[in-house]
Amino acid sequence: MTDDSQAAPSINNGNPRHVAIIMDGNGRWAQKRFMPRVMGHRAGVKAVKNIVEFCGKEKIEVLSLFAFSSENWRRPKEEVSLLMKLFVTTLSSEIKKLHRNNVKLLCIGDKTAFSTELQAKLTEGESLTQNNDGLTLVIAANYGGHWDISQAATQVADKIRNGFLSNTVITEELIAQHLSTASLPEPDLFIRTGGEQRISNFLLWQLAYTEFYFTAELWPDFSPDSLQEAINSFKGRQRRFGRTGEQVINQPNSL
Ligand code: FPP
Repeated sequence: MTDDSQAAPSINNGNPRHVAIIMDGNGRWAQKRFMPRVMGHRAGVKAVKNIVEFCGKEKIEVLSLFAFSSENWRRPKEEVSLLMKLFVTTLSSEIKKLHRNNVKLLCIGDKTAFSTELQAKLTEGESLTQNNDGLTLVIAANYGGHWDISQAATQVADKIRNGFLSNTVITEELIAQHLSTASLPEPDLFIRTGGEQRISNFLLWQLAYTEFYFTAELWPDFSPDSLQEAINSFKGRQRRFGRTGEQVINQPNSL
C-alpha cells in the first residue's frame, strides 16, 4: 500500500469539499500597527476576498466564514457599529462581483437583530445568487452553534405539534435536516487563525468529524498560500470516522 491510499477521498484532487474558518486576529493586527481595531477588520475584508477567489479557483464547494458571533454583541458599542457598517459597505460593493463569479451566497444566523438595511443586503445577496452553482459562500452572522441546534429543535417540535411529522421519534438526521446548514456537506476542514485553539460556538453539531487546523497567523495576513498549507496538512491526515486505520486502508469506501 502506498501512502496515497490513506489520503482523504480523492474528490477534487483530495481537496476538502467544505472549509470553515474562524477569522481571528483582526484587532491585534491593527494594534501591532498602532491603528484602530476597525482597520484590522478592513484588512480582514481584503483577506476574505483573496480566500474566496482562491476557493473558487480550487473548486472548493463550500467556504463558511464566521463573520460575527452571537457573543460579539458584547464588544464595545463603537466597534460593533463600525463592523455593521463594514458588512453593509462590503456587501454593497461585492454582491454583483460574487454573482459574476458564479458564487452562491448563504447567510446563516439570526438576522432579525440586524438593521433593516443589513438584513436587506443579506437577502438581496442571497436571492441574486441563489441559482449559482460555483462556490457556496456561507457567511455566519449573529450565528452561534447553540442557537442553530435550538432553532432546529424548535422547528422539529413545531412540526410535530402541528401534525406535519407522522413519526415523533427525534433522530439525528431529523435535527441535521433542520440546521441552517442542512443543504451543505459537513465541513471537512476547520481553520482558526490568530493563535487561539477553540471553537467559540461556531458550527458545533457540524464539526463532529471535521479535521482541525490552528495557525498563529492573524486573519489579515492569512493568504491563499496559508490556506494551501492548511489544505496540504488536511490531505496528509487519515480520516477514520470511527473505523480502525486498517479498515480505512483496506476498504477505503466502506463508510
Ligand atoms: C475577529 O478578530 C474578527 C471578527 C469578529 C470580525 C471578522 C469580520 C471580518 C473579517 C469582515 C468580514 C466581512 C464579510 C462581509 C464577510 P478580533 O477582532 O477578535 O481580533 P483580536 O482577537 O485580535 O482582537
